[in-house]
Amino acid sequence: MKVLNVVGARPNFVKIAPLLREMAKRPQIDPVLVHTGQHYDAQMSDGFFDALAIPAPDVNLGVGSGSHAQQTAEVMKRLEPVLEVVRPDVVLVVGDVNSTVAAALVATKLGIRVGHVEAGLRSFDRSMPEEINRLVTDALADDLFATEESGVMNLAREGVPAERVHFVGNVMIDALRLAKPLWQGATVFRDLGLDPQGRYGVVTLHRPSNVDDPRRLREMVSALQELARDFPLVFPVHPRVRTRLARESVAWRTPKQPLPARGLVCMDPLGYLDFVALVSRASIVLTDSGGIQEETTMLGVPCLTLRENTERPVTVTHGTNRVIGTAPRRIVDEGLRALANPPLPQAPPPLWDGHASARIVDVLLGVAIEAAA
Ligand code: UD1
Repeated sequence: MKVLNVVGARPNFVKIAPLLREMAKRPQIDPVLVHTGQHYDAQMSDGFFDALAIPAPDVNLGVGSGSHAQQTAEVMKRLEPVLEVVRPDVVLVVGDVNSTVAAALVATKLGIRVGHVEAGLRSFDRSMPEEINRLVTDALADDLFATEESGVMNLAREGVPAERVHFVGNVMIDALRLAKPLWQGATVFRDLGLDPQGRYGVVTLHRPSNVDDPRRLREMVSALQELARDFPLVFPVHPRVRTRLARESVAWRTPKQPLPARGLVCMDPLGYLDFVALVSRASIVLTDSGGIQEETTMLGVPCLTLRENTERPVTVTHGTNRVIGTAPRRIVDEGLRALANPPLPQAPPPLWDGHASARIVDVLLGVAIEAAA
């Protein structure tokens, strides 16, 4: 069974790593890896392949950056001839980035089965590009792999037949568990001169709604600086935010320079192992990322989500996440509150047990057997 896996952006790499590892164990499966090239910097792409031991892509479409339409269209144009040559039995797409929806569209139009890993998540906020990508990908996919029960319910409400929906758990958590011995040995604490037992925090921000409006970004940065009066708050900066932050008066360090004792400190993006290691011991994490809400839930680290909504409600009901919006006063108040009264660790959400990839591959093989029968 030929499974063509499509990845494009940083979180996709994390999700595909355990899936490819699982496929390598199954002699019935012949996996092919296509990298769209949506993310291309060493820090955003190659470093993740190395850290997660992902095999080099069989094909790199090299689409790069662009507007949403340009990026999506380029992936479609460049992927179509690849699918025509490879003729896979299944195209597997992960997450909710532009590469995900583009690949689902091309494969469906060529009559190829599409599996969507991380199906059914909904923020119900159509101003988020990812929400559009999720809705379209799920409308097209033949096999929908849900990470949490809310996803299963959303798909049922949208009329997706139940036999197409598979509640399998979370491949990002498979990756986190698999890489644990590696991130536990990461050098980030030594590199930053940081005491893992001491108080420190981690911030990530990259959503257009948070970083594209200079006034909003400035207000959020001021709030984070106020929160970090007594401890270091590390902000690994996504490339799309770097130029926007250049206008703000923020401290920068390289990821090899010791941190100051307090205050917000920006740096280039960290690799997966260093980043997870840093999050795992943090006193607080403030983020607008989806995956980090899940990782903090699993690691039992207090997380404040700087958005108005989350498509991952299980991180609130079963985890350490609070969705607090972006009002500057609220960021400071909730931050101080989370530090003073950290949420109690909870049992992990259902099926976040490290076996999601195995379940997905089982379903794929089951589908092949049914189709052949
Ligand atoms: C994309 C995803 C987002 C995901 C994020 C993870 C979409 C719509 N968005 O957002 O859901 O959370 O990836 O990081 O697919 N850039 C570089 N180097 C790179 C890649 C990007 O400098 O390797 C810069 C470019 O200026 C580019 C900008 O970042 O224009 C945005 O990149 P893009 O892939 O369009 O979206 P992300 O913000 O990364």
